Parts: sequence; C-alpha cells; structure tokens
Amino acid sequence: MSDIETIEAEALSAIKDAGNLAALDEVRVAELGKKGRVSGLMKQLGGMSAEERQEMGPKLNALKNRVADAVAARKADLEDAALEAQLANETLDLSLPPKPEARGALHPVMQVFEEIAAIFGDMGFAVAEGPDIEDDWHNFTALNFPEGHPARETHDTFFFHPQEGAPAKVLRTHTSPVQIRVMEETPPPIRILVPGRVYRNDWDATHTPMFHQVEGLVIDKGIHMGHLKGCLSDFAREFFEVDKAATRFRPHFFPFTEPSAEMDVQCDRSDGAVKVGEGKDWLEILGCGMVHPNVLRNCGIDPDEYQGFAFGMGVDRLAMLKYGMPDLRPYFEADPEWTRHYGFAPWLTPSVSGGLS
Ligand code: DAH
Repeated sequence: MSDIETIEAEALSAIKDAGNLAALDEVRVAELGKKGRVSGLMKQLGGMSAEERQEMGPKLNALKNRVADAVAARKADLEDAALEAQLANETLDLSLPPKPEARGALHPVMQVFEEIAAIFGDMGFAVAEGPDIEDDWHNFTALNFPEGHPARETHDTFFFHPQEGAPAKVLRTHTSPVQIRVMEETPPPIRILVPGRVYRNDWDATHTPMFHQVEGLVIDKGIHMGHLKGCLSDFAREFFEVDKAATRFRPHFFPFTEPSAEMDVQCDRSDGAVKVGEGKDWLEILGCGMVHPNVLRNCGIDPDEYQGFAFGMGVDRLAMLKYGMPDLRPYFEADPEWTRHYGFAPWLTPSVSGGLS
C-alpha cells in the first residue's frame, strides 16, 4: 500500500520536474513502460488471491491512470510552452512605422518626352538614341553644314580639345546627328523619334547650356510635304490635347532640309496665358523640312529612290507652354518643392488612348 503512495508521489514529482519532452518521456518509460515501476506493481496482481486482487486491482488501475494523466497534462504544458517560445521568437513588431510615403515625381521634361513618344509611337515611330559627345561629321558635315559655313556659328558649340589629326569632338548641339547615325546603319524605310540632351553655350531666362530636343525622321519611297504637314499637325493637336488647332508652315532655313519650314500652331494670348487651339495668334513649336538630297547621299541612300522628312523641337519650351511654367532656370535647380508642384506621378504612363497628362 505504502508502495503505491511512494511510487505515486515520486512519479508525480518527477513528472512535474521534467523540463522538456525528452525528460518527460524518460519518466513515463520509468513508471508506465513495460519494465516500469507501475507496470511492475500491476504484474504482481497475477500472484495475488482473488480477494487481494479485488482490493488491489482498482487501486493499481487508479494509480496507473493518475500517473498517465499527469504525464499527458505535463506533455500538453510543455508543448504549449514550446509553441509560446517559438511564437515569441518569430514576432513581427506591428508598431513599427510603415515605409515613408514616396516623395519623388517625374520632371515635366521627362513627362513631355513620354507624351511625345506616346503620340509618335502611335503613328509607328520607334525611339532611337545617340551619344552626347559627337564628332564633327555627325553633328555638322554629314548634315550638310560645310566647313566654314556660317550656320555652324549659330550653334554656340562646346568643343573638346582636338585630338591629333582629327577635328575636335563636340557636345552635340542638336539631336539631328542621330538621323545620320540611323541612316548609316539602317536601310529604309525608317521612322524614328529621338529624344535627347543637347548643349549650347547660352544662359539666360529662356536658354540653358543643356536642354532637351526631340528629333523625328521618316525615310521611304514617295514621301512628300503632305506627309510632313499631316503628321506634324496631328501631333500638335494631340500634344496640346485640343480637338482643333490650325497650323501654318513658314519657310525657313536649315542646312539639312530643303525645303525647310517652321511650324506654328494657332493660339490665343489675349488674357496673358497662351491658349492653344483658339484665337488669332501663332506659336512656333518646331522646325522641319524635306531631308536634303546631300544628307541622304552622305549616308549612302539614293535620293532618286528615297525621300523623307525630318523635324526637331525643343522640349523644355513645350513643357513650359503646356504646363504654365514661367521660367526655365528652376528646371535644373533640383528644388524638391518645385518638383512636387510641377512634377508628375511616375507610374501614370501617358498614352494616346488612355490620356496624355
Ligand atoms: N536641329 C535643329 C535645331 O537644333 C532643329 C531641326 C529643324 C531639326 C529642322 C530637324 C529639322 O530635323 O528638319 O535647331
């Protein structure tokens, strides 16, 4: 009898002291296993008289059940504690502040690049690019600016120190050299749009030494002024997001086109701001013309077989006009207040069908 009490007390205390599942299992085996102490007591029942067995049987069974229950309870406790410890370890601190709100904005010049590319992309033009540091051939000579020609002087060119035997390299003064690079490499038909930075030694409220242009070039059989006029008039209306706007083409001179023109778009200036698509005034927005036969020949294209038109426009001024920015200089001051005010959400890609701005 006292055996039962001693074994129970010892077993319960060992169960309580078991610090982990492995230790608890050792206790279980030592008490309830085949060779365990409780099992040992149970085996003695076989050698008892019927009366003894009647008395001891229920007691031993109850002992066995209490020990088994204690093992199960301790096991559940240990498992809960292990889970708690694991959860505490893997905790996320939900009180941490979220990521700060994105503050960046797309510069209006980049927005206008995207808008122009969307409009001409819709007409089947592909974007092409060229280097900012150009040689004399691509920036001038191949574009039909002969050496010593006065048109070179109007470009206020930044020159690099000359290398032996070769004319000095330049910071490109316009995006037109990319016309040459593409025509030298690609057989017609060609339909490209060239956004890029250009450089001239000039600095006041409307001129910065680095500014942005978009160039366009179309070369194919049977291209004429009508294609140029239709394409650029459509562009003007789409860009200024108006249903109607008259355009006019004034004769002009560029060495690389013949005939050459500047395109104006109808506008109204009567209440201070410029409104495109109404009124009796004109706003000059780009230069254009039919590609000069000399330029085609310089690139190995036969002018009797292929013709084309080209155009070029200043993007900084177009952005000023469209988005009402009065001064060019803050464009390049990287003032976050200015960018927040005039900038665009970078993920809203302009498209002709979905809206430009
Ligand atoms: N390259 C000229 C400039 O920077 C702009 C230009 C005018 C480009 C007429 C053209 C064009 O392709 O046909 O002033």
